[in-house]
Amino acid sequence: MWIFCLICLFSGVNLANVHSPFDLEIISIIPCNISVGVALPFTGAALRVAEDAVNAEFLGRLNLTVTLLYQETDRVCEDTDAHAPLLLAEYYNKKALGRCVAVVGSACGGLSIAPFLAKEWDVLLFSNSLVASTSISQTVSPTSIGMVASYESIAASLLNLFRIFQWLHVTMLLDAAAATDFYFQVCQSTKTLLLTEQFSDFRVDGTRFTLADTPSVHEALKFANARSRVFVMMSHTSVAIKLMRFLKTDRLFIPGDQVFVVLQPTQQAAYGAVSLFDNPDVFDVELFRSTLYLTTYVATGGGFPKLNQQLAAKSQELYGTALQTGLQPLDVYLIRETYNSVRLFAALVNDSLDSQPWDNNTIHSADSVCGGGRLRSLMTNRTFRFPSGPVFIDANGYRHTDLLLYTFHPKTLSFQVVSRYDAILQRYLWDQNVSIEWLTGKPPLDIPPCGFSGNEGPCLPQDFARQNLLAVLLAVLSVIFITTMPLLIHRKLRNASREETWWILHHPVVNALEKRTTSI
Ligand SMILES: *[C@@H]1O[C@H](CO)[C@@H](O)[C@H](O)[C@H]1NC(C)=O
Ligand SMILES: *[C@@H]1O[C@H](CO)[C@@H](O)[C@H](O)[C@H]1NC(C)=O
Ligand SMILES: *[C@@H]1O[C@H](CO)[C@@H](O)[C@H](O)[C@H]1NC(C)=O
Ligand SMILES: *[C@@H]1O[C@H](CO)[C@@H](O)[C@H](O)[C@H]1NC(C)=O
Ligand SMILES: *[C@@H]1O[C@H](CO)[C@@H](O)[C@H](O)[C@H]1NC(C)=O
Ligand SMILES: *[C@@H]1O[C@H](CO)[C@@H](O)[C@H](O)[C@H]1NC(C)=O
Repeated sequence: MWIFCLICLFSGVNLANVHSPFDLEIISIIPCNISVGVALPFTGAALRVAEDAVNAEFLGRLNLTVTLLYQETDRVCEDTDAHAPLLLAEYYNKKALGRCVAVVGSACGGLSIAPFLAKEWDVLLFSNSLVASTSISQTVSPTSIGMVASYESIAASLLNLFRIFQWLHVTMLLDAAAATDFYFQVCQSTKTLLLTEQFSDFRVDGTRFTLADTPSVHEALKFANARSRVFVMMSHTSVAIKLMRFLKTDRLFIPGDQVFVVLQPTQQAAYGAVSLFDNPDVFDVELFRSTLYLTTYVATGGGFPKLNQQLAAKSQELYGTALQTGLQPLDVYLIRETYNSVRLFAALVNDSLDSQPWDNNTIHSADSVCGGGRLRSLMTNRTFRFPSGPVFIDANGYRHTDLLLYTFHPKTLSFQVVSRYDAILQRYLWDQNVSIEWLTGKPPLDIPPCGFSGNEGPCLPQDFARQNLLAVLLAVLSVIFITTMPLLIHRKLRNASREETWWILHHPVVNALEKRTTSI
């Protein structure tokens, strides 16, 4: 017995491998010291809680570790977009080559390059935030998974909302100084969508501004006002509010004619919750009543109190962070999908091990068990049940997200949900009990009666009108002439034999002919 055990201990590659759990590792390239909602101070706890949960659930079978790669000095997404792929490549080549690994990253953190590395290495790449379509394409990045949705699907739901109100003229005002590229990406995706048949009837213009550069704000507002009545404020909610106030002080605000749209990926402080509109001053009321606030949401976020508690406690413990009151960790898809990425990887490896018997924690087996392409094929078009709720990844390799539409209600002096965008049905479901309290009782028109400049159609300026009266009269007369002429000729031909009418046309013509013949 003793001898046997000593043999086990010292000889033991085979025995040790049979009995030790299978090692797998999640490498996170989520940024840390950047003020975006996806940064580790908010999502890091989800990695740890999921790591513990997986190791408890698969005790003896799987041994999952989480590795965090980030550069502390990164302050904006551009920094981390440049650094994260380098950190990842270095770590992978030195420490992870041939081991069973997957990567989790975010839109702020190199998702422009990481999908290509992941494809090259055949490693699964989870994105816990929205992705550009190229980041999850079957051909370009076949080992990537969009755990939330794509920018394009968000842009499409925005345009679908505008279509409900028949707003086809839209201006997007992009904050060029925003800490996240969410707004930029949605603008880009909107542009792409306009090239498709489905949205070809829209005319969407874009303009940039930065709050620090006041002239750029005035210019942007003037530009928008000259081209549409639907202003999409692609910025933090507080910046959007400042923009509206500028519009009013610039005397460009036309109550009841304009609508301001604020679109936020989540209601975290980094983007600005809808509660920033609560209890407005008199100055703001009409502005806010002209505002639509659209944001993603998690239908069942509050339904998992135990996991929410664990996540909140861990976040406090590791980073000293807490979400704003009223928000549970699982209400925020960035947190939920960071957690789900870890769970999904473990579940897939567990499945993969089962369908491919293993007795060896070696390079060869790790490669075939954990290959990104293989794991992706095991997860698409399939629903997983996790402690955070069901997860369905569609055949394109991404999950869809629901949206909530809020509008201001004068009675409560706060915004209320009026509609929900159902990602599966791909349409808006309106709350029958709450309606939008438009300033004029109805939504603004796509094009106002007097045009965007305010002096077209019935609002033509007086002197301009007088000068042009003659031209207009002539135009009207020639139109009448052109339209009645063929009719008269037709009649003449038809009634050629009717003596009582033929002269109406014929007589002057005959006169003219007579005159001409006499003068020749
Ligand atoms: C970066 O964030 C970590 C975790 O919150 C913190 O401990 C660290 O001090 C930060 N570093 C800098 C340079 O701010
Ligand atoms: C799990 O893996 C880590 C890192 O590879 C290792 O330190 C730890 O001992 C392993 N745990 C078990 C139970 O094998
Ligand atoms: C892991 O795989 C085993 C073997 O197929 C299966 O019995 C078990 O239910 C799986 N565990 C989970 C949590 O999916
Ligand atoms: C287990 O690993 C050893 C050494 O790495 C290798 O020679 C052997 O073929 C592996 N066995 C299986 C079944 O893959
Ligand atoms: C997805 O699964 C459903 C039923 O489970 C099936 O009808 C459908 O064809 C599948 N779609 C793809 C693209 O595999
Ligand atoms: C709308 O109001 C009715 C009656 O007050 C109530 O039964 C129903 O649940 C409400 N619907 C929603 C979606 O709140």
